[in-house]
Amino acid sequence: MSAGTAVHLQSGDDIDANTVKMSRELRVLPGNSGAARREVLTSAEVLERAQRFPRLRYMGSKYRLLPHLERVFAQVGGTTAVDAFSGSGVVSYLLKAQGFQVTSNDFLNFPSVIARATVQNSSVRLDDETVETILGPPADDRDFIQSTFDGLYFTTEDRKFLDSAWSHIDRITGYKKDIAIAALVLSAARKQPRGVFTFTDSTRYADGRRDLQLSLREHFRERVAAYNAVVFSNKLRSQSLRGDVLDIPTRAPDIAYLDPPYAPPRDDNDYIKRYHFLEGLSVYWRDVKIMENTKTKKLEKRYTPFAYKRTIENALSGTFEHFKDAGAIVLSYSSNAIPGEERIVELLGQFKSLVEVVSIDHKYHFGTHAAATRRDVSEFLFIGRDE
Ligand SMILES: C[S@@+](CC[C@H](N)C(=O)[O-])C[C@H]1O[C@@H](n2cnc3c(N)ncnc32)[C@H](O)[C@@H]1O
Repeated sequence: MSAGTAVHLQSGDDIDANTVKMSRELRVLPGNSGAARREVLTSAEVLERAQRFPRLRYMGSKYRLLPHLERVFAQVGGTTAVDAFSGSGVVSYLLKAQGFQVTSNDFLNFPSVIARATVQNSSVRLDDETVETILGPPADDRDFIQSTFDGLYFTTEDRKFLDSAWSHIDRITGYKKDIAIAALVLSAARKQPRGVFTFTDSTRYADGRRDLQLSLREHFRERVAAYNAVVFSNKLRSQSLRGDVLDIPTRAPDIAYLDPPYAPPRDDNDYIKRYHFLEGLSVYWRDVKIMENTKTKKLEKRYTPFAYKRTIENALSGTFEHFKDAGAIVLSYSSNAIPGEERIVELLGQFKSLVEVVSIDHKYHFGTHAAATRRDVSEFLFIGRDE
């Protein structure tokens, strides 16, 4: 292990200029196996495909950064990639579109179902007949969702539909089941104002958007069509895992992409608090524990060392070590989080001799008074490789 040499690519107002600079740096690096890239699509075609991925509003999702990630992944090159914290699944899907054999992973269930339906699955679609059955009369008289979440989320009709849909989903198997669950999860996420389940008064953020007006039944039909439309094969066998990052068996892929939760200086970063309903829905609340004393009926918190100031450095270090034999470790991290950029370079440099930093500027707006509330936040990409 040697200390990392940081090639710092300074952020600029012009992201493209910044990225061009980065490309030049990346191209001259030894060991760049870009030529081995199998993808026959152009970057523009890859991006067009990835941007069609059904959109889940998810904390920290990388939809906006797809062009930057595409460029970095293409320049690093290779044939195998791990997306260790897959979340919405869009980066795993981008990697698949780029021609990589992808190992997608998340410790929550619903992200792993979405990735199974869209990344691992290369050919199966949910047929019209099964869709009509799921939308038809219930197969049994279950009412868990209707009774448990009465007065908390959605209309009576919507909750009835969720129970009824599951009465059929329980009778199907394989990728069809994964697409059905993914579509149900995305329906619920789209219909919930702001896509989070931290409050129960749905009138609070109701703004008349179409997504809030459609019934869950109508959503489901559309969301199945959207997932069916993105099923494709890149000729390689990708897989979707559900588990802790340190249990991922693929330890030496060409690219290990890491997008862990960002440890915020204040506040919290709890995915379960925001998305407990989606997690529960993805397993029909089997083998999960609702905290009955909570107003939102959330599930028990899922501990992750990435969410806390005290444990984040060890968690990052342990993850870098786990993937130290990867061709490249690519880490997404926010400049608004802990630890800071220099410390991350130091930590990654313990396992990879050359560390590059790319900063991508974003403008976030808070409130309505632009001048007083606007601030710049950078999203970093750290690229660690062996010289
Ligand atoms: C920033 S999000 C990933 C977003 C994703 N790249 C996207 O574009 O949607 C972080 C993810 O890490 C997952 N996670 C947190 N701790 C984990 C752990 N120890 N092992 C595996 N996944 C974990 C969370 O469930 C969450 O989905």
